[in-house]
Amino acid sequence: MSDIFFITGTDTDVGKTVAASWLAFMVSKERTTALVKPMQTGSVSPELNGDEAFYKNFLPEDVTIATFSTYPEPLAPSIAARRSEAIIDFDQIVKKSLSVSVDHDISFFEGAGGLLVPITDSKNMADYAQRIDAQIILVARPDLGTLNHILLTIEAIEQRKLDLALLVISGFPDQAEVVHWENIQFLSKYFSELPILVLSKVDLNEPHAIQNMNAYFCNVLPKFLKDVPISHFLIPENL
Ligand SMILES: Nc1ncnc2c1ncn2[C@@H]1O[C@H](COP(=O)(O)OP(=O)(O)OP(=O)(O)O)[C@@H](O)[C@H]1O
Ligand SMILES: [Mg+2]
Repeated sequence: MSDIFFITGTDTDVGKTVAASWLAFMVSKERTTALVKPMQTGSVSPELNGDEAFYKNFLPEDVTIATFSTYPEPLAPSIAARRSEAIIDFDQIVKKSLSVSVDHDISFFEGAGGLLVPITDSKNMADYAQRIDAQIILVARPDLGTLNHILLTIEAIEQRKLDLALLVISGFPDQAEVVHWENIQFLSKYFSELPILVLSKVDLNEPHAIQNMNAYFCNVLPKFLKDVPISHFLIPENL
């Protein structure tokens, strides 16, 4: 049985690529793994300067890495495509995604921006996740403002009856302040059944940044991470 995950974020630039790379690296030790960017924008050569380049920089060669379509301007896919006189073939992207997933134990598909970003005039990222029957991984920042973005996105996920498998908070600082601790404390209580993964802030220019990232979980671990050694996130008592 192959697992399919759609990695979305509360916004663009929140750490989807960082989290996707960490997850793919960890699970690829035991399972055949694919990591795909179905729609890349803001790049003409994704293998050089897109998310694919980041994946390739950190992941072993046995992880299948691909970008399905790419558009030069850093805009939402439907807009970037229109402006380069192209049309995104939603059904074709769904078909390609499913064909990757049948060849791997576990496949991660990284969206562009957040959950409701348009892919065509009538389809968005949530529609794509639904069509490929993916479980959702939601990535968010640890800072002030993140709670509102997380709550809004989870409301939209639930409204669409999508299956939220994991919330990832990426970039938790070494010198965490009250806001960072309190945000995690709030989330772990508010979503007490939800697996939450916290990834530490690292210097992404270091050669093994992804491999050396510290990871902690709150509540429970999702099934697909059960073989990965991750410690429980500990919140100081007197904040
Ligand atoms: N764990 C982390 N350690 C260090 N920096 C991080 C971490 N997580 C996120 N960041 C910061 O966030 C930035 C954006 O991360 P990333 O490229 O993963 O975002 P994204 O959500 O994939 O963006 P896009 O929507 O463009 O695909 C990084 O360049 C880095 O500055
Ligand atoms: Mg990205």
